Amino acid sequence: HQNRLIHPCHTPKLATKFCPNLSTTLRDPTLAFPNNLTLHTVRERNPAVWAGGSQPWACTPMQRVAVLIPHRDREQHLTHLLAHLHPMLQRQQLHYTIYVIHQTGDFMFNRAKLLNVGFLEAMKDVAWDCVILHDVDLIPEDDRNLYLCGQQPRHLVVGRNFTGYKLRYKGYFGGVTAMSAQQFRDVNGVFQTSSGGGGEKMMSYGRGNFYVGMKVDRPPAEVARYTMIFHDRDEHGNRINNERVALLYRPREVMYSDGMNSCRYKLLSRTVNPLYINVTVNIGTDKEL
Ligand SMILES: *[C@@H]1O[C@H](CO)[C@@H](O)[C@H](O)[C@H]1NC(C)=O
Ligand SMILES: *[C@@H]1O[C@H](CO)[C@@H](O)[C@H](O)[C@H]1NC(C)=O
Ligand SMILES: *[C@@H]1O[C@H](CO)[C@@H](O)[C@H](O)[C@H]1NC(C)=O
Repeated sequence: HQNRLIHPCHTPKLATKFCPNLSTTLRDPTLAFPNNLTLHTVRERNPAVWAGGSQPWACTPMQRVAVLIPHRDREQHLTHLLAHLHPMLQRQQLHYTIYVIHQTGDFMFNRAKLLNVGFLEAMKDVAWDCVILHDVDLIPEDDRNLYLCGQQPRHLVVGRNFTGYKLRYKGYFGGVTAMSAQQFRDVNGVFQTSSGGGGEKMMSYGRGNFYVGMKVDRPPAEVARYTMIFHDRDEHGNRINNERVALLYRPREVMYSDGMNSCRYKLLSRTVNPLYINVTVNIGTDKEL
């Protein structure tokens, strides 16, 4: 039931009507990636964005959404992503906040673990109904690709311009995904050990290992389209390709021992910027923390 996703504390004060499930302010977004774009400009263009997010005045959204973006040394990607996400999410009439989870140090970039951190930290602010797990270099091309959760986990990337807008393979669940807070908890967050080549090992367990009765929903292919910017992701230790594969698949025997409940990290700072909430963490290695 969709109402399950409405937090009980969410009493609409300003607007008594729920927002329509398809916003009337959607339009074809302009995709542009000028070299001189700055956060300052993005901020000027989005005056209604405050503390990393926004919410509509005219109606009350059915869900409250946290967008979690794992990040390290990708300032230019992040600027372009924010430049496109903020206008789109406002046109979708969402109540949302963007969290950027920034990994410090020289250890292998661990997207999975940063997502678990992001979930835990975001929930300290608001009992979000829905989380969007978002790669920093994927720009949504279509406003109708709603950043909302459903009865099943939703995979929002059917196609990207780099692969001719074709799904990579049937079980693919990487890039941008939407999970209700309950779904995320049910699967104990994201499998962390998949970082650094573990993704391949994961794959050897087979793809049929999706669990707790979940299946993946996807928007129609003509809607779930993304542009991938600056395709340089394999340099500087930011090896994401393998781990993104293993976002949800993991062997049953480690499902409840490796994930959100084994996520240890040192919070270094938490700052509220106009365009996003920045969470900087040292995730070290599990042995160290
Ligand atoms: C959208 O809302 C209408 C009525 O308000 C409802 O009948 C329909 O099922 C909803 N669609 C979705 C996808 O929730
Ligand atoms: C960025 O470059 C474009 C032309 O490519 C120019 O129109 C625009 O004014 C520049 N913006 C800033 C902030 O320099
Ligand atoms: C995808 O779009 C980006 C941004 O416009 C562009 O830089 C890149 O070349 C495109 N890739 C392909 C294969 O079209």
